[in-house]
Amino acid sequence: MRMHYDELAVPGVRALQPYQPGMPIAELERRYGIRNAIKLASNENPLGPGNLALAAARQALADCARYPEGGGYLLCARLATRHGVAPDTITLGNGSNDVLDMIARVFLGPGVEAVYSRHAFAVYPIAVQAVGATARIAPAHDGSRGPAYGHDLVAMRSLVGPDTRVVFIANPNNPTGTWLGSGELREFVTGLPDHVMVVIDEAYFEYVTQADYPDTTRWLADCPNLIVTRTFSKAYGLAGLRAGYAVSRPEVAQLLNRVRQPFNVNSIAQAAALAALDDVAHLESSVRLNQTGMQQLVSGFRRLGLSFIESVGNFIAVDTGGAAAECYERLLKQGVIVRPIANYGMPNHLRVTVGLQEENARFLAVLEQVLA
Ligand SMILES: Cc1ncc(COP(=O)(O)O)c(C=O)c1O
Repeated sequence: MRMHYDELAVPGVRALQPYQPGMPIAELERRYGIRNAIKLASNENPLGPGNLALAAARQALADCARYPEGGGYLLCARLATRHGVAPDTITLGNGSNDVLDMIARVFLGPGVEAVYSRHAFAVYPIAVQAVGATARIAPAHDGSRGPAYGHDLVAMRSLVGPDTRVVFIANPNNPTGTWLGSGELREFVTGLPDHVMVVIDEAYFEYVTQADYPDTTRWLADCPNLIVTRTFSKAYGLAGLRAGYAVSRPEVAQLLNRVRQPFNVNSIAQAAALAALDDVAHLESSVRLNQTGMQQLVSGFRRLGLSFIESVGNFIAVDTGGAAAECYERLLKQGVIVRPIANYGMPNHLRVTVGLQEENARFLAVLEQVLA
């Protein structure tokens, strides 16, 4: 008898498309028989990890026969000090994706709804759908009242109803790079009904230098339903180790901890994350490199007459002027991996991560050739 495994899966999973990661460099080199490929596709830190984090990771490796410290006591304590909150407000995740998934498992399920924006980070639809909840997707700004492609909080608010349990907001959003300022976001958060949790995903927090960009961990005192997520994958350069966290009220953290896998953040990641928090110099040079790299890409796009979405993250979405799939393939053949974002409803855009100066230059040169 042939098994129809799909029919055995729960309904949410049956219709799910898996998350599409960027193509690994080794895979591209093998596929096209090329060398020296560059990857500007997954919003990683092109400088890599700092030396302090690397040294701590190496040291922790020696003790890897032991289970990690389950709740991540030291890391939670350090993060609590950093955010001026109590350690029991921190929930560690195997990357912040893990925390987003825990939030969905705690607050969502069949019969209730989550609200997020069109073009929002791809893990929200996956997490929502996997637990059988209903997604209510707000149209993004069209450019008339806010940055085109950005979250439209008025449209999002209008989708919040009695069955809404979670609102996901990425600030800044990936792949658009658009962001929400303090006043507008706070008004939205404080105006939500009591039965709605609001998740503010600040994966790119450290990169943002805009004066009006809020650190919403500071709002927890008077926004009880807020959950802020952060990660060590981006500016801290530890994407491969998988460490992220949520800051919330302790009662909410307790709920998240009920579904958290006991040892979800491994000991090497915990040690590296702790050390990374002390490596201010590495963080500062990462942010500086991003700023100059972003300027380099933006002036390159202007020179090529390409429009782009202004971004405050470490990536930028550029309009290739037609279907981007072909441009993506041609870039691949020249050893440059970027990210097509048709699955985000943006078929003409490519998302490119800000790389090292020479990587950005190579990407721009190849892009010019490919579009000629
Ligand atoms: C907006 C946003 N949130 C969360 C994440 C998850 O990152 P991680 O699971 O590595 O912490 C990403 C990664 O690309 C992201 O872009």
